[in-house]
Amino acid sequence: MKIAVINGSPKGNAGNTNIITESFLRGAREGGAETITVFLAEKEITPCRGCHICWTRGPGQCVISDDMLQVLAVLGSADIIVFASPVYFANISGLLKTFMDRMTMIGGPQTAKTAKIENQKNESAGAKAPKLMMISSCGLSDRGEFDVISLWMSKVSQKMNMDFIGEIYATNGKAFSAERGTDHTAVSDYLEAAEQAGKEIATDKRISDSTRRLLTQPFPDGPLSN
Ligand SMILES: Cc1cc2nc3c(=O)[nH]c(=O)nc-3n(C[C@H](O)[C@H](O)[C@H](O)COP(=O)(O)O)c2cc1C
Repeated sequence: MKIAVINGSPKGNAGNTNIITESFLRGAREGGAETITVFLAEKEITPCRGCHICWTRGPGQCVISDDMLQVLAVLGSADIIVFASPVYFANISGLLKTFMDRMTMIGGPQTAKTAKIENQKNESAGAKAPKLMMISSCGLSDRGEFDVISLWMSKVSQKMNMDFIGEIYATNGKAFSAERGTDHTAVSDYLEAAEQAGKEIATDKRISDSTRRLLTQPFPDGPLSN
């Protein structure tokens, strides 16, 4: 079982999104998964030009020459694809959106038409279509900041004909990167729940109700709650 994360935070490895994602991946590795993270901040991925040549020439035939194909190759061997992003203006980051737009090259009309048939063929041959997950971090303490991302991801999974198997949305981003020495109980509890979610995803491909409850309970008010 291979889990590939596409992290769309401009802060990459040093971001709050990655702190939460790393806990999730630690749990997934404990559950037996192999994991890989691609930081889009370290890649050159330029915006889709909307020329649709990838739809007429065929999947994967993009006129832009950059790191996109290299990243798609990583996704090609994944059983679970995790998109990870900070909340930017109630939505995903521009880095991740740019990447998603470029995924059009593997999701044009011909592929959309045949995706379902291909997935069924692959499944009967023992290979499964990858499943999708979303991990996000926002600055505020209101869980409503993730409403757009959650809806967007369910649309994306329909368009890509992939099961959307889990969401981890952490409020209070600043608390995750706060200086050591501060009271981190809420943070460490959250990271423990994210780790448990990773273990469950690796073993059962779902997050249990009890872990989901821990991942969605409000962060306590306090100096780190914004
Ligand atoms: C341009 C920009 C827009 C943001 N918009 C929101 C927002 O709408 N809601 C929110 O709660 N936090 C918002 N934030 C805060 C980030 O989501 C938060 O700091 C997050 O933890 C950053 O994750 P990162 O360190 O992985 O990049 C915004 C930050 C930036 C830089």
